Amino acid sequence: MKLGINIDHIATLRQARGGSEPDPVGAAMIADLAGADSIVCHLREDRRHIQDRDLELIRQVIHSRLNMEMATTQEMIEKALMVKPEIVTLVPEKREERTTESGLNLAGNLQKYKDAVLTLNSSNIEVSLFIDPTMEAVKDSAKIGAQAVELHTGTYAEMRDPQGAEAALDDLTTAAIAAEKMGLFVAAGHGLHYHNVQPVAAINEIEELNIGHSIISRAAFVGLSHAVEEMRYLIDR
Ligand code: PXP
Repeated sequence: MKLGINIDHIATLRQARGGSEPDPVGAAMIADLAGADSIVCHLREDRRHIQDRDLELIRQVIHSRLNMEMATTQEMIEKALMVKPEIVTLVPEKREERTTESGLNLAGNLQKYKDAVLTLNSSNIEVSLFIDPTMEAVKDSAKIGAQAVELHTGTYAEMRDPQGAEAALDDLTTAAIAAEKMGLFVAAGHGLHYHNVQPVAAINEIEELNIGHSIISRAAFVGLSHAVEEMRYLIDR
């Protein structure tokens, strides 16, 4: 199981004071050394956390893969072509949201996503689509020609009752099996933390988890290396 560490919230903390600390570039290096398989950062259109300079420096200093999360806009595509992350994850983006709230709405926009995948692939950048765990979204992702999907685990993470969590896990499992059969690499993420990650990590077809908020939160108490290592331990078990 691969682990991608999302370091956006180190930048959120920096932006709270508008200065230079803490620096997400340093966080990316520490997460890299602590065993992350990739560093994930979301360059938002409103630049509320990660800045262009962060992305460009992180590209230079990490040894693991860079996964750039972004909206499907001309500006972001041009940025990705310049920075050249190994992989781009396309996500929906709304100004008023606190964090990414749902998977992409692919159905009415197949051509737009196909074009983005072709453009990014032609620069050797793989594309993952952040989708809700539904058969329709998995089939559309295959039609679009993406290399990977990232299944949105938010519904599972928000369930407070065991039956609801079980049903959400079933949806994730069904979507992961279908995506793998269609030749897609399967990642998952959003809202995963130290107490809910293991049932998702146990789904065979899921090959990578992308986790941010819970690891950065724990890092405030135990340090980032420890926080990464503890998550690594849980998902490897
Ligand atoms: N995957 C995607 C596509 C996301 O947008 C986010 C949030 O930035 C994450 C994973 C990580 O979510 P969390 O911060 O809740 O772990």
